[in-house]
Amino acid sequence: CLVKMKPKKMEGAIVVTIEGLSSEGNLHPLQAAFVEEGAVQCGFCTPGMLMTSKSLIDNIPDPTEDDIRSAFTKNRNLCRCSGYVKIIEAVKEGAAQVASGESEISIKKLHEREQGDNTRLINDAVDLVTGVTEFGDDIQIDDCLIGKILWSDHPHAKILSIDASEAEALEGVALVVTADDIPGENIAGIITLDQPAIAGDKVRFIGDPVAAVFAETDEIASEALKKIAVKYQPLTAVFSPAQASQPGAPLIHDKGNLMHHASIERGDIQAAFDQCVVIEENTFTTPRVEHAYLEIENGVGFPDNDGGITIMMGTQCAFDDRQQMARIMAIPEDKIRVVKLPMGGAFGGKEDILIYQFLALGAHLGQRPVRISLSRQESLRTHAKRHPAVMKYRVGANHEGKILALEADITLDAGAYASLTPDVLENTVVFSGGPYYIPNVKVFGEAWYTNNVPSGAMRGFGANQVAFAMESILDEIARKLKLDPFEIR
Ligand code: FES
Repeated sequence: CLVKMKPKKMEGAIVVTIEGLSSEGNLHPLQAAFVEEGAVQCGFCTPGMLMTSKSLIDNIPDPTEDDIRSAFTKNRNLCRCSGYVKIIEAVKEGAAQVASGESEISIKKLHEREQGDNTRLINDAVDLVTGVTEFGDDIQIDDCLIGKILWSDHPHAKILSIDASEAEALEGVALVVTADDIPGENIAGIITLDQPAIAGDKVRFIGDPVAAVFAETDEIASEALKKIAVKYQPLTAVFSPAQASQPGAPLIHDKGNLMHHASIERGDIQAAFDQCVVIEENTFTTPRVEHAYLEIENGVGFPDNDGGITIMMGTQCAFDDRQQMARIMAIPEDKIRVVKLPMGGAFGGKEDILIYQFLALGAHLGQRPVRISLSRQESLRTHAKRHPAVMKYRVGANHEGKILALEADITLDAGAYASLTPDVLENTVVFSGGPYYIPNVKVFGEAWYTNNVPSGAMRGFGANQVAFAMESILDEIARKLKLDPFEIR
């Protein structure tokens, strides 16, 4: 995936991929070391990592950590799951085994060596290091339509009209779908039903889909997208909870801009602060964070003979997807099959509705297999991120450094739709005091709709933001009490 196979450059060359590193039933020592050292997580980066490592040890049989790091940097090998430490250890281990004369390790022997460990995990890892695992874009289908999605031009606007006639007339275009083509209810959401499957009357952020084209080739689909004419009436947008919570702020949803609130109160907060010898106050902010999984969203859809649909894609929530598709497509759940493919990373970012409604519509209305693969730009534009947070903290402690009181006001930017916001907000409130026992607590949390990209699940699920606030303030308290920051904890 890192080297362009240009014919001239390839003349007379021998091409080796991970599939050719070892013979049937065996692994190259590097492959075995990747399995045994835990260097394979989602495995999406593994082919590149392994081939860079193989090429490295062919030239430098005993590479140092610096050699390994430079080789990965030079070849632009990225891993989003592992933090690289295990991969570096695996390369050293694999190199040592090659240096000691090992050329192959049998998979059977590997299972014996790892006795007691989960056989299925080893099998999964072996498939990933040998290239057997099929991710969504590896699936080959004949006679497949390519789907492309048209995203909103505005963060907040009314849709006045959509004219797809020119796109539909283009040769090679099989189908254009808009909200009008949805057979069931145009609504989705894992916790709160507030997100249209396809925006019909209004867009609330730049990642709202307004239409999709299914065509014979990628090029035709891209061309057809340009021919869809959408008339918008732009509305004033709000881009922060501070704007969204103003009286008279533009309404993003009819029910109002407050998405969710949660609170915890315990003890007598005022009396507790009166007993404290040190009180520390501060406001902390943490930003929106992109998951940046290496595998971008993709999937395929097939019409079934009985009027149902099969969808194959990387997803964290196959059963939720099926339930939501049943509502959108007006097809019973038992006629919708969702095959969860291996994912090249997700970290919470592959839970919400994004492409499956289009895979279902394309396959069902077009009665042909369909494929959608987003670009990195599209993925960044539309999938939910970590919640940006503003956290006002007031924490008091006695002379020993025991925390007696915590008062916190937490505000999250939910973005345009709820996604997992109610649960994430409740997590920030529950975890606001960190792992410490605090007898007097008054914590209040609010999440506001804005016209930003939605916020949703991401590793840590709300705990990360408040951990940053609480631990920062605890350091300050330790400093004021002249205590070691470790001791106070
Ligand atoms: Fe490297 Fe997932 S294991 S990207």
